[in-house]
Amino acid sequence: MGINLTRTIEWKAGSVTTIDQTKLPNRTSLLKIESCDGIAKAIRTMQVRGAPLLGAVAAYGLALTAFHSKAKDKDQIMRELAASAEILKRTRPTAVNLFWALKRVMKKAEETRGDAVDVVKAVVDESQMIATEDVEANQKIGKHGTNIVDDGDNLLTHCNAGSLATVGYGTALGVIRAAWSDGKSIKVIATETRPLLQGARLTTYELLRERIPVTLITDNMVGYIMSKGLVDKVIVGADRIVKDAVVNKIGTYTIAVLAKEHKVPFYVAAPKSTFDMNRLAEDVIVEERNIEEVVKFGDMRIAPKKISALNPAFDITPMKYITAIIYEEDVISPEEFQKLSAING
Ligand code: MRU
Repeated sequence: MGINLTRTIEWKAGSVTTIDQTKLPNRTSLLKIESCDGIAKAIRTMQVRGAPLLGAVAAYGLALTAFHSKAKDKDQIMRELAASAEILKRTRPTAVNLFWALKRVMKKAEETRGDAVDVVKAVVDESQMIATEDVEANQKIGKHGTNIVDDGDNLLTHCNAGSLATVGYGTALGVIRAAWSDGKSIKVIATETRPLLQGARLTTYELLRERIPVTLITDNMVGYIMSKGLVDKVIVGADRIVKDAVVNKIGTYTIAVLAKEHKVPFYVAAPKSTFDMNRLAEDVIVEERNIEEVVKFGDMRIAPKKISALNPAFDITPMKYITAIIYEEDVISPEEFQKLSAING
């Protein structure tokens, strides 16, 4: 399998093939994973990342456990699946898609009547369905989202919410892809996204492959660029949308505050699997990663030894900064989202 941005993860008879995102853009290297532990390691080391992809990959982690299980009956395979789900839950705490997918696959397994073989089939099928549905949801997000994009727009995006963060097409980049294929003459500004550089390494890589015009800036240039009138709209993805806020890559909140100051509309594109209607911002665990990522730039140390540093991987943007949420069914205001959460929460 070459690098396929229309389907970033593939299941084949007990193995999962995906792209090692830590090597991009300099090397295109595929990862073949055959166990749940292998999936957990790939998530922790960020070889796979991005909220919707974490959901799909976690589901496949359970599919690998099921497929390779020697369990003789349903009880035994359910115990093995529950143990794998625990391992996967402990990988990264913030993107809700991972927890959503594990819950969905475990529910399917529990509801399946019959023997271990029936559970294996149900778990593999459900995981495949999660992956396929993700691409479909992103394409619908693109269709709805293109309506908010005007010909000639300069669109700023942060981190990578593209094919690489999903099973295919992307959320924020899905909107950008859809607008581009509708013939709108747009330009994208991608922030580099310190410390792991998902914007510089992945977003620019994806857009260049499709010849969508993209300009890279460092994170600290956003205010200046906006003050010069060079940004018409911001479109970002999300790791979790709770009743009162959007949780996304560190730096999103800063961009949202700047956007409000400069009267630049701020859009969030995410599938329903990213909605966490029952929770508030205060309930969310923001992942704290190793400070090595901050005190180094790539392999090069950039701060004195023994320096103290912080490395929260995400931040929280209150709803008052958000113009609208683009999801697979519609484009809705934060107030409409809150109404939805009152119904579904
Ligand atoms: O730490 P990462 O790279 O997994 O964080 C990714 C993001 O914050 C994305 O913006 C988010 O997952 C949306 S992806 C469609």
